[in-house]
Amino acid sequence: MQHNTDILIIGGGAAGLSLALRLADTHHISLISKGILREGSTLYAQGGVAAVLDPEDSVEAHVQDTLAAGAGLCDEKVVRFTVEHGAENIHWLIDQGIEFTRTQDDRGYHLTREGGHSQRRIIHAQDASGRAIETTLEHRVRTHPNIEIFEHHNAIDLITTHKMGKGNGNCCLGAYILDRKYNRVEVFHAQQTVLATGGASKVYLYTSNPDTSTGDGIAMAWRAGCRVANMEFNQFHPTCLYHPDAKSFLITEAVRGEGGILRLPDGTPFMKKFDKRAELAPRDIVARAIDHEMKRLGTECVYLDISHKPASFIKRMFPTIYQRCKEYGIDITSEPIPVVPAAHYTCGGIMTDMNGRSDVNNLYAIGETAFTGLHGANRMASNSILECLVFAQAASRHILKQKKKREIILLPGWDESRVTDSDEEVVVTHNWDELRRFMWDYVGIVRTDKRLRRAKSRVNLLLKEIDEYYGNFRVTSDLLELRNLAVVADLIIQAAIDRKESRGLHYTLDHPRPDNRHAPANTVLYPVNFAIKKPA
Ligand code: FAD
Ligand code: SIN
Repeated sequence: MQHNTDILIIGGGAAGLSLALRLADTHHISLISKGILREGSTLYAQGGVAAVLDPEDSVEAHVQDTLAAGAGLCDEKVVRFTVEHGAENIHWLIDQGIEFTRTQDDRGYHLTREGGHSQRRIIHAQDASGRAIETTLEHRVRTHPNIEIFEHHNAIDLITTHKMGKGNGNCCLGAYILDRKYNRVEVFHAQQTVLATGGASKVYLYTSNPDTSTGDGIAMAWRAGCRVANMEFNQFHPTCLYHPDAKSFLITEAVRGEGGILRLPDGTPFMKKFDKRAELAPRDIVARAIDHEMKRLGTECVYLDISHKPASFIKRMFPTIYQRCKEYGIDITSEPIPVVPAAHYTCGGIMTDMNGRSDVNNLYAIGETAFTGLHGANRMASNSILECLVFAQAASRHILKQKKKREIILLPGWDESRVTDSDEEVVVTHNWDELRRFMWDYVGIVRTDKRLRRAKSRVNLLLKEIDEYYGNFRVTSDLLELRNLAVVADLIIQAAIDRKESRGLHYTLDHPRPDNRHAPANTVLYPVNFAIKKPA
C-alpha cells in the first residue's frame, strides 16, 4: 500500500506539530507518530521556553549566555538567528491559544529563571509548559482538514534515490512505515520528508525522557547518508526525582531558579564549592558536582530543598511537582526532594543548515533530532523548545518557496520474502538492557579512554547481532528501536573517542581540561554512503 502526500512529517512534538500547522493551509500533510500523537518529550517539558520578552533583557544577553553555556562550540550565526526569532515564535504560540502563566498583578507574562541565564527569560505555563504547548498544538492539528494523522506508526527507514540505485544526487522520496495495529509495512511517498523524531536519551539506563526518545531519526538519517555531529554531548539533567516508583520524573530547573538549594544528606549545601553561580551554574557543572558528591559519599541521591519558600508560592509555581511528590509521600513545602542526575537531552544530531535541510535532498530535520549548531557543547535550559519552533518556522519558509510537484513515483514495496516471525524475542529485551546499562556505566557523566574502548567493543558485537536478527525476522517496534539505539550508541561512542579533551558535557578523566591549542571544532561523523567526499 502506498500513501502519497506533499509533506511527510515524522514526529508529533513541538517541532513536528508547529511545522505541520505552518504548512497545512497550502500542503497536504501526513503526520506520523509511533505512539499516540502527544507522547514525546515535549509533553513532559516543565520549565518553559527561553526568549527575550522583557524590556530589561536583550538579544545580545541571550546570545552571550547561550555561547557561554556552549563552551566554544556554538555557531554564533545560528545562535543569533534563533534568539532573534524567539519572541515572534512565542507570539505565534500565544496566537495558537497557549495560556502562559501571567504575573500576579496580571500586567504581563511571568518569566522564570534557569541555569546559565543572566536574566529572567523563561516563559512558562506553571510547571507543565510542555503539556500546554503539546496539547494546544495537538488540538489545532487534529482539527485541520489538510493534516492526516497516523498514530502508532513507526518509521523504519527513509527511501532514497541512492538506495534505489537511481539518479545523480541523493534525494529522499519518502519512508517505509510500520503500521503497528495491522503489523504491516506501508510506503509513504512525499515531495518533502521531515524528521522531527526527538532525541536519543533512552540510550541510557536512567533518563528523564519518555520511551519515544530512541534516536530513530538520527539512525534513519545516518543510514540514508546524512552527516551527524556532536553526538558525544549528552546532557544529564541534574535533578530527576529519586524514588523507586517514579519512572523518569523531572524536577524542573526552575525550582533552583526560584531559590531551591542542593544539599547533601546531612543538609549541607555544596554547589558553591563547584561554581560561584552555585545552583544556577549550567547543567553540566551541576550534574557533575552531584555525581562527584554521590560517588564521594557513596549516597544514592542528594536533596533539592525549596521548603524555605512560602507554601503558597511553591504550590502556585510548581503545582505538578508538588502533587506528584505528594503521591510519593514527599511534601516539598516542608521537606527536601531526593534527586539524581539522568540523561535528558541529545545536543548532537543530524547536521542541517539554517533552513533545517539535511545532506539528502528533500529531507529536513528539525527539533531535538537535528544538529543546527545552536547548543555547542552544552544546551542552555529552555533553548530546546525555542529551537524546535524557530527551525520549524525556517523549514516551513524554505518549503513554501519550493515549486509544488504533483508527480507521483511508484516506490518499491517492503520486501518480507526472506523473513519469518521471531522465535526469540528475549534477544531483543536482553540487548536493550545490556546496551542501556553499558552506556550508563561507560559513556555517562564521567568517561575515560578505557571505558569508551570497552563500550566500543560491546556495541560492535551488538550491532552485528542485531543486524543478523533484523535480516531474519519480521520487524517489531521493539526491534526497530533497538536497532536505532545501537546505531546511536555507536555514534556517541565514536564521537566521544574522537574528542581528546573535556568540554561542556563531554568530561573524561584522561583529558580533564579543554584543549585550547586549536580552535574548538565540532565532531562530524561521515556515513560510508555520504554523497560528498569526506575531507582529508
Ligand atoms: P519530541 O517532543 O520528543 O517528539 C518526538 C516525536 O517523534 C514523537 O511524536 C514520537 O512519537 C515521534 N517519533 C520518534 N521516532 C519515531 C519513529 N520512528 N516513527 C514515528 N514517530 C517517531 N526543553 C525546553 O526548552 N524547556 C523545557 O522546559 C524542557 N523541559 C523538559 C523536561 C523533560 C522531562 C524532558 C524529557 C525534556 C525537556 N526539554 C525542555 C527538552 C524538550 O522538551 C525537547 O527537546 C523537545 O520537546 C523535543 O521536541 P521534538 O519535537 O524535537 O521531539
Ligand atoms: C527543566 O525544566 O529543568 C528542563 C528545562 C530544559 O530541559 O530546557
